[in-house]
Amino acid sequence: MKKLFVIGIGTGNPEHLSMQAIAALNTTDVIFIPTKGEEKSALAAIRTTICERYISRPYELVEYPISARNEAIGDYTQRVFDWHDLIATSYAEMFSKAPEDATGALLVWGDPGLYDSTLRILESVKTRTDLAFDLEVIPGITAIAALTAAFAIPLNTIGNPVTITTGRKLAAGWPDGADSVVVMLDGNKTYAGIDPENLHIYWAAYAGMGDQILIEGPLAEVRDQISATRDAARARHGWIMDIYLLRQS
Ligand SMILES: C[S@@+](CC[C@H](N)C(=O)[O-])C[C@H]1O[C@@H](n2cnc3c(N)ncnc32)[C@H](O)[C@@H]1O
Repeated sequence: MKKLFVIGIGTGNPEHLSMQAIAALNTTDVIFIPTKGEEKSALAAIRTTICERYISRPYELVEYPISARNEAIGDYTQRVFDWHDLIATSYAEMFSKAPEDATGALLVWGDPGLYDSTLRILESVKTRTDLAFDLEVIPGITAIAALTAAFAIPLNTIGNPVTITTGRKLAAGWPDGADSVVVMLDGNKTYAGIDPENLHIYWAAYAGMGDQILIEGPLAEVRDQISATRDAARARHGWIMDIYLLRQS
């Protein structure tokens, strides 16, 4: 493989694809699609739909299973490193099977630069193998952009910074000095366990997608409604992706 595009595809709405992404897809020979698990298969279906809708030349779809994280490894960082290693190994194997003069593409959810390790893993593939492909990244619409657009709100208050964090980090405490905090990757409903005083929440599940769900209000008043809605949606779909902005009022 001579070149690899890492294409940001937005957050599950095929119309999030940029013209730049569509042009890149139409120079691609092999598209690598991750599969496995209920969430992954729903996401694989969206990626396949994107290819069918936008590519007007012959291409090959190569599906690959994403290895599960080894939950037996106690340390979180080590667990993630170990998991990235497994993915790097399957990338290296897949890429080495592609024809030498082929252009490949990985379709990355949202934007490849935000809470996504594809670029880190590709760096490791390059350092530990003799695969020498060129890399080009095409930016995509992030879940943050999908969230703020859905509520028609600005991300920041005037002249102030924004903190982007995870449920795991928020559980350890409110970020120092922050007035706007975006929380991603929160499988534990962390918003429900923090002090809600003076906090307003903008919560979105499946942001930008057909099944988008939006709830906003003072955290103390809406947190139970969010949790019940989240549980029901997760049961219905078999998976959920949600994001929220907490703003101090
Ligand atoms: C691994 S990160 C990927 C982020 C992605 N690269 C981006 O640019 O948005 C996955 C997290 O993004 C958020 N997310 C992604 N897509 C979403 C969507 N359609 N609706 C709500 N949250 C979403 C969720 O917080 C989810 O846990």
